[in-house]
Amino acid sequence: MSNAGSDMEFVHYSVMADEVTNGLNIKEDGVYVDCTLGGCGHTKRILSRLGKSGSVIGIDLDGDAIANARAAVKDERLKLWKGNYKDIREAVRECGFGYVNGVLFDLGVSSYQIDNAERGFSYIKDAPLDMRMDQSGGITAADIINTYPAEKLERIFREYGEERFSRKIIARVIDRRQIKPVETTAELAKLITEACPGYYRKEGHPAKRCFQALRIEVNGELEGLGTALKEAIELLVPGGRIAVIAFHSLEDRIVKTTFHSLESPCTCPKDFPVCVCGKKPAIKIITKKALVSSDEENEKNSRSHSAKLRIAEKL
Ligand SMILES: C[S@@+](CC[C@H](N)C(=O)[O-])C[C@H]1O[C@@H](n2cnc3c(N)ncnc32)[C@H](O)[C@@H]1O
Ligand SMILES: [Zn+2]
Repeated sequence: MSNAGSDMEFVHYSVMADEVTNGLNIKEDGVYVDCTLGGCGHTKRILSRLGKSGSVIGIDLDGDAIANARAAVKDERLKLWKGNYKDIREAVRECGFGYVNGVLFDLGVSSYQIDNAERGFSYIKDAPLDMRMDQSGGITAADIINTYPAEKLERIFREYGEERFSRKIIARVIDRRQIKPVETTAELAKLITEACPGYYRKEGHPAKRCFQALRIEVNGELEGLGTALKEAIELLVPGGRIAVIAFHSLEDRIVKTTFHSLESPCTCPKDFPVCVCGKKPAIKIITKKALVSSDEENEKNSRSHSAKLRIAEKL
């Protein structure tokens, strides 16, 4: 199968697919929102558990993912919506629904986006430095690298990439961009590698943290995630479930704190005998500890290693 954006096959191994479908407690006639459609793996699993009157709303920012789904999944129970999951409320309404029975977020980039060199996400494959999930607009990674002030770049590399050598890397980038803009993934990966000590290579490719950080900044991956989760939970019917897979600690922290704030919203001082603030729990957390993928799955898919799945139920 090929897709509209390139000749590349749209392959994506769906992380913790059984745990997600079981965790969503799928009802045959329910309405489910896959907020991160990607290669449709999870969506196909959900569809396989639905009866004739069930529906899935598949959301993705990436036009390639939507085009692929349109070509690959001929199923009238699937409604496609190209856009940001931050607008889940609008997506659900425009697809003709009020409330939903389950919502899934499988955060981050798809393997298609990483493996498709021309999208510019990979530090191993040379391509223009792009990294936009939504290629219809917005700033690219090259724009950020060539125009952001040093302090802002450093904060991004440190906070989003937890990069120890961010100062050295930025100094090198700034020297270079004064002569000529950094335009490709290979140029940036080389500058980063040159700025880091040789022993650092033992911890994986020296560019991996900065590339992750840039990707998060380009796509605004952390901004608004907590709000999107809250909106999704508001759309759930009582007993409906939300499942979220996060791939790094920054994302997972947002999921965890958002769930906690909705499960225990009471703001009364601890020594009050009864709650007087009146804030009632909206959810019950099903996964007290995040679920991780099995050894068997980790052997098949390296991406699963860092996955953390959290599930909650609307009260
Ligand atoms: C990890 S992949 C999902 C893979 C999918 N679960 C599967 O089984 O094939 C994440 C997808 O979410 C999309 N995405 C990331 N952030 C998004 C956002 N804010 N709104 C909508 N889609 C987003 C990406 O474009 C990507 O296709
Ligand atoms: Zn209270």
